Amino acid sequence: MAGSVSKGAFITFEGPDGSGKTTQAQLLVRWLRDQGYEALLTREPGGTKIGDQIRDVLHRSDNVGMDPRTEFLLYSASRAQHVSQVILPALGAGTVVVSDRYADSSLAYQGYGRGLALGMVRMITDFATQGVRPCLTLYLDIPPDEGLERRVLGGEEWNRMDAEKLAFHRRVRSGYLELADADPARWSVLSANRSMEELQAEIRAAVSAHLGRGAN
Ligand code: TYD
Repeated sequence: MAGSVSKGAFITFEGPDGSGKTTQAQLLVRWLRDQGYEALLTREPGGTKIGDQIRDVLHRSDNVGMDPRTEFLLYSASRAQHVSQVILPALGAGTVVVSDRYADSSLAYQGYGRGLALGMVRMITDFATQGVRPCLTLYLDIPPDEGLERRVLGGEEWNRMDAEKLAFHRRVRSGYLELADADPARWSVLSANRSMEELQAEIRAAVSAHLGRGAN
Protein backbone atom coordinates (compact mmCIF):
# COMPACT_ATOMS: atom_id res chain seq x y z
CA MET A 1 0.00 0.00 0.00
CA ALA A 2 2.90 2.29 0.69
CA GLY A 3 3.46 2.36 -3.07
CA SER A 4 0.21 4.27 -3.51
CA VAL A 5 1.60 7.14 -1.45
CA SER A 6 3.54 9.15 -3.97
CA LYS A 7 4.84 11.91 -1.73
CA GLY A 8 5.08 12.67 1.94
CA ALA A 9 2.47 14.44 3.99
CA PHE A 10 3.13 16.61 6.99
CA ILE A 11 0.59 16.29 9.82
CA THR A 12 0.86 18.15 13.10
CA PHE A 13 -0.82 17.81 16.48
CA GLU A 14 -1.48 20.95 18.46
CA GLY A 15 -3.30 21.72 21.66
CA PRO A 16 -3.03 23.03 25.16
CA ASP A 17 -0.91 21.14 27.66
CA GLY A 18 -2.55 17.93 28.84
CA SER A 19 -4.78 17.49 25.80
CA GLY A 20 -3.43 13.99 25.17
CA LYS A 21 -1.59 14.82 21.93
CA THR A 22 1.36 12.56 22.62
CA THR A 23 -0.71 9.40 23.11
CA GLN A 24 -2.92 10.21 20.13
CA ALA A 25 0.08 10.90 17.88
CA GLN A 26 1.62 7.55 18.85
CA LEU A 27 -1.61 5.69 18.14
CA LEU A 28 -2.00 7.45 14.80
CA VAL A 29 1.51 6.59 13.63
CA ARG A 30 1.07 2.95 14.61
CA TRP A 31 -2.19 2.85 12.64
CA LEU A 32 -0.66 4.57 9.59
CA ARG A 33 2.07 1.93 9.52
CA ASP A 34 -0.58 -0.80 9.75
CA GLN A 35 -2.22 0.81 6.72
CA GLY A 36 1.04 0.44 4.79
CA TYR A 37 2.32 3.99 5.08
CA GLU A 38 5.87 4.89 5.84
CA ALA A 39 5.24 7.08 8.90
CA LEU A 40 7.52 8.98 11.23
CA LEU A 41 6.65 10.31 14.67
CA THR A 42 8.56 13.32 15.88
CA ARG A 43 8.02 16.14 18.36
CA GLU A 44 8.78 19.70 19.33
CA PRO A 45 10.59 21.10 21.12
CA GLY A 46 13.27 18.56 20.39
CA GLY A 47 13.19 15.95 17.67
CA THR A 48 16.97 16.11 17.20
CA LYS A 49 19.99 15.84 19.50
CA ILE A 50 20.63 19.57 19.22
CA GLY A 51 16.93 20.32 19.65
CA ASP A 52 16.77 18.18 22.80
CA GLN A 53 19.54 20.25 24.35
CA ILE A 54 17.64 23.44 23.52
CA ARG A 55 14.49 21.85 24.99
CA ASP A 56 16.29 21.36 28.30
CA VAL A 57 17.12 25.08 28.47
CA LEU A 58 13.51 25.97 27.66
CA HIS A 59 11.94 23.63 30.18
CA ARG A 60 14.16 24.01 33.23
CA SER A 61 11.92 25.42 35.92
CA ASP A 62 14.88 27.32 37.43
CA ASN A 63 15.40 29.29 34.19
CA VAL A 64 13.31 32.12 35.54
CA GLY A 65 13.15 35.53 33.89
CA MET A 66 13.60 34.28 30.33
CA ASP A 67 12.80 37.09 27.90
CA PRO A 68 9.89 36.11 25.60
CA ARG A 69 12.10 36.86 22.59
CA THR A 70 14.79 34.51 23.92
CA GLU A 71 12.13 31.88 24.47
CA PHE A 72 10.74 32.25 20.94
CA LEU A 73 14.18 32.23 19.32
CA LEU A 74 15.13 29.08 21.21
CA TYR A 75 11.97 27.29 20.05
CA SER A 76 12.72 28.56 16.55
CA ALA A 77 16.34 27.39 16.70
CA SER A 78 15.19 23.94 17.75
CA ARG A 79 12.63 24.01 14.91
CA ALA A 80 15.20 25.02 12.28
CA GLN A 81 17.30 21.99 13.17
CA HIS A 82 14.22 19.77 13.24
CA VAL A 83 13.13 20.84 9.76
CA SER A 84 16.50 20.50 8.10
CA GLN A 85 17.65 17.33 9.83
CA VAL A 86 14.41 15.36 10.16
CA ILE A 87 11.29 16.75 8.50
CA LEU A 88 12.56 17.76 5.06
CA PRO A 89 14.53 14.55 4.41
CA ALA A 90 11.57 12.41 5.52
CA LEU A 91 9.09 14.31 3.36
CA GLY A 92 11.48 14.00 0.45
CA ALA A 93 11.52 10.23 0.93
CA GLY A 94 7.71 10.08 0.74
CA THR A 95 7.14 9.57 4.46
CA VAL A 96 4.07 10.74 6.36
CA VAL A 97 5.58 12.91 9.09
CA VAL A 98 3.53 13.33 12.26
CA SER A 99 4.82 15.98 14.64
CA ASP A 100 3.66 16.40 18.23
CA ARG A 101 3.65 20.25 18.11
CA TYR A 102 5.20 22.49 15.47
CA ALA A 103 5.21 26.17 14.50
CA ASP A 104 1.60 26.85 15.52
CA SER A 105 2.73 26.26 19.11
CA SER A 106 4.93 29.34 18.78
CA LEU A 107 2.07 31.41 17.40
CA ALA A 108 -0.19 30.26 20.24
CA TYR A 109 2.26 30.34 23.17
CA GLN A 110 4.75 33.04 22.23
CA GLY A 111 2.39 35.09 20.06
CA TYR A 112 -1.00 34.96 21.77
CA GLY A 113 0.30 33.79 25.16
CA ARG A 114 3.35 36.04 25.62
CA GLY A 115 2.10 38.84 23.41
CA LEU A 116 4.89 38.85 20.80
CA ALA A 117 3.80 40.47 17.53
CA LEU A 118 2.22 37.78 15.36
CA GLY A 119 3.68 39.21 12.14
CA MET A 120 7.19 38.96 13.57
CA VAL A 121 6.58 35.43 14.84
CA ARG A 122 5.37 34.39 11.38
CA MET A 123 8.33 36.00 9.63
CA ILE A 124 10.99 34.39 11.84
CA THR A 125 9.11 31.09 11.67
CA ASP A 126 9.18 31.18 7.86
CA PHE A 127 12.92 31.70 8.04
CA ALA A 128 13.47 28.92 10.61
CA THR A 129 11.27 26.40 8.80
CA GLN A 130 12.37 27.21 5.24
CA GLY A 131 8.66 27.72 4.62
CA VAL A 132 7.76 24.10 5.44
CA ARG A 133 4.14 24.04 6.64
CA PRO A 134 1.86 21.21 7.68
CA CYS A 135 -0.89 20.14 5.28
CA LEU A 136 -3.14 18.99 8.15
CA THR A 137 -3.21 20.18 11.76
CA LEU A 138 -5.18 18.22 14.35
CA TYR A 139 -6.07 20.52 17.19
CA LEU A 140 -7.08 18.72 20.38
CA ASP A 141 -9.15 21.18 22.33
CA ILE A 142 -9.54 21.14 26.09
CA PRO A 143 -10.24 23.92 28.61
CA PRO A 144 -6.88 24.88 30.17
CA ASP A 145 -7.84 24.10 33.77
CA GLU A 146 -8.81 20.54 32.80
CA GLY A 147 -5.64 20.09 30.77
CA LEU A 148 -3.37 21.19 33.59
CA GLU A 149 -5.24 19.00 36.04
CA ARG A 150 -4.74 15.99 33.74
CA ARG A 151 -1.01 16.65 33.73
CA VAL A 152 -0.89 16.73 37.52
CA LEU A 153 -3.02 13.60 37.89
CA GLY A 154 -1.03 11.79 35.19
CA GLY A 155 2.21 12.52 37.10
CA GLU A 156 3.73 14.07 33.99
CA GLU A 157 6.85 16.20 33.98
CA TRP A 158 5.94 19.74 35.10
CA ASN A 159 7.74 22.31 32.97
CA ARG A 160 8.31 26.06 32.93
CA MET A 161 5.30 26.62 30.66
CA ASP A 162 2.92 24.56 32.82
CA ALA A 163 3.77 26.84 35.73
CA GLU A 164 2.29 29.83 33.87
CA LYS A 165 -0.89 31.29 35.23
CA LEU A 166 -4.26 30.06 34.02
CA ALA A 167 -4.83 33.38 32.21
CA PHE A 168 -1.80 32.64 30.02
CA HIS A 169 -3.15 29.20 29.11
CA ARG A 170 -6.54 30.74 28.33
CA ARG A 171 -4.90 33.15 25.88
CA VAL A 172 -3.06 30.22 24.30
CA ARG A 173 -6.29 28.32 23.81
CA SER A 174 -8.20 31.22 22.31
CA GLY A 175 -5.20 31.89 20.07
CA TYR A 176 -5.35 28.34 18.78
CA LEU A 177 -9.07 28.65 18.11
CA GLU A 178 -8.49 31.91 16.21
CA LEU A 179 -5.78 30.29 14.08
CA ALA A 180 -8.06 27.33 13.34
CA ASP A 181 -10.94 29.62 12.42
CA ALA A 182 -8.78 31.52 9.98
CA ASP A 183 -7.70 28.40 8.07
CA PRO A 184 -10.36 25.68 8.29
CA ALA A 185 -8.94 23.84 5.25
CA ARG A 186 -5.82 22.95 7.22
CA TRP A 187 -7.13 22.74 10.80
CA SER A 188 -9.30 20.01 12.20
CA VAL A 189 -10.63 20.99 15.65
CA LEU A 190 -11.44 17.99 17.85
CA SER A 191 -12.69 17.98 21.40
CA ALA A 192 -10.24 16.10 23.63
CA ASN A 193 -12.84 15.76 26.32
CA ARG A 194 -13.79 12.11 25.70
CA SER A 195 -12.37 8.63 25.59
CA MET A 196 -9.01 7.96 24.00
CA GLU A 197 -10.62 5.49 21.57
CA GLU A 198 -13.34 7.86 20.42
CA LEU A 199 -10.87 10.65 19.83
CA GLN A 200 -8.49 8.34 17.96
CA ALA A 201 -11.33 7.20 15.69
CA GLU A 202 -12.07 10.81 14.74
CA ILE A 203 -8.40 11.51 14.16
CA ARG A 204 -8.11 8.51 11.85
CA ALA A 205 -11.17 9.63 9.92
CA ALA A 206 -9.73 13.13 9.47
CA VAL A 207 -6.36 11.74 8.39
CA SER A 208 -7.91 9.21 6.01
CA ALA A 209 -9.99 11.91 4.39
CA HIS A 210 -6.91 14.05 4.06
CA LEU A 211 -4.74 11.33 2.58
CA GLY A 212 -7.49 10.64 0.11
CA ARG A 213 -8.73 7.25 1.16
CA GLY A 214 -11.76 5.95 3.04
CA ALA A 215 -11.61 5.75 6.82
CA ASN A 216 -11.84 2.28 8.33
P1 TYD B 1 6.24 19.16 26.45
O1 TYD B 1 6.30 18.64 27.83
O2 TYD B 1 7.30 18.83 25.51
O3 TYD B 1 4.97 18.70 25.70
P2 TYD B 1 3.42 18.80 25.85
O4 TYD B 1 3.01 19.89 26.74
O5 TYD B 1 3.08 19.04 24.43
O6 TYD B 1 3.04 17.44 26.33
O7 TYD B 1 6.06 20.73 26.59
C1 TYD B 1 6.12 21.53 25.57
C2 TYD B 1 5.86 22.91 26.11
O8 TYD B 1 6.50 23.86 25.29
C3 TYD B 1 4.39 23.25 26.11
O9 TYD B 1 4.06 23.90 27.31
C4 TYD B 1 4.24 24.21 24.97
C5 TYD B 1 5.58 24.84 24.87
N1 TYD B 1 5.94 25.30 23.51
C6 TYD B 1 5.95 26.65 23.23
O10 TYD B 1 5.66 27.47 24.12
N2 TYD B 1 6.29 27.08 21.99
C7 TYD B 1 6.65 26.22 21.01
O11 TYD B 1 6.95 26.65 19.88
C8 TYD B 1 6.63 24.81 21.30
C9 TYD B 1 7.01 23.82 20.25
C10 TYD B 1 6.27 24.40 22.56
